[in-house]
Amino acid sequence: MKKITVPDIVRMKVERRKIAVLTAYNYPMARILDCAGIPVVLVGDSLGMVEAGYSTTLPVTMDEMVYHTRMVKKACGVSLVLADMPFMSYQVSPEEGMRNSGRLVKEGGAEAVKVEGGKRAAHTIRAIVDIDIPVMGHIGLTPQSIHRMGGYKVQGRGKEARERLLEDARAVEAAGAFSIVLEAIPAELAGEITGILKIPTIGIGAGPGCDGQVLVLNDILGLGGEGKRPRFVKRYANLEEVIEKAVTDYKKDVEEGRFPSEEHSY
Ligand code: KIV
Repeated sequence: MKKITVPDIVRMKVERRKIAVLTAYNYPMARILDCAGIPVVLVGDSLGMVEAGYSTTLPVTMDEMVYHTRMVKKACGVSLVLADMPFMSYQVSPEEGMRNSGRLVKEGGAEAVKVEGGKRAAHTIRAIVDIDIPVMGHIGLTPQSIHRMGGYKVQGRGKEARERLLEDARAVEAAGAFSIVLEAIPAELAGEITGILKIPTIGIGAGPGCDGQVLVLNDILGLGGEGKRPRFVKRYANLEEVIEKAVTDYKKDVEEGRFPSEEHSY
């Protein structure tokens, strides 16, 4: 299969082909996604929550993003590698955004970056696009603004909030983003934004009307989630159960002398 590029993703909207996006944070998982032909692999700053166990994405650093992006890039011969810009890597100035997105590309091997925020982030998105780094926007529920939003809540409800989101979507497109994530917004509003924008919309908790969907890999695999699962997550496997059984069987085999057997000895 041929390597997927940013223009390929944009074309998928024109050709009305739905875009399946998943996160990955390391080599073995990214390899599976790449072999499965997932068009876009997102090295999300959600890694802070699902891999590092933090309660928000805010502590994730640029160095951590570069490190994880490098592992994912090594595995992706086909999938487009998209890396998240973590909290405080672009909020202070467009120049900082340019420098840090450059690090994700140069040191991590990212082929595009994702930036949270609507109108407020437009300047920075434009600056990054102007140094030839493709940007995916991200509006609606933006986890880096979780303290202002007062929790993981559906956004865009009510006339004013709805107008603000429509403005944000237009601003991100006008700033040159090649695509945009719509997170936790009513399906009907996400459908309207998808109809208005020329760039593909990638929904998460935004209904079926988006051009594509993104989910956190650990969530669909049933890995590491003892907490409440958001309504928009569909679980496709329960790897926690599978892994727990495997390690328990191993422990028992060691304790009861069944491992290593002759077969596993020199
Ligand atoms: O960090 C992340 O994984 C994300 C997606 C869930 C959209 O931003």
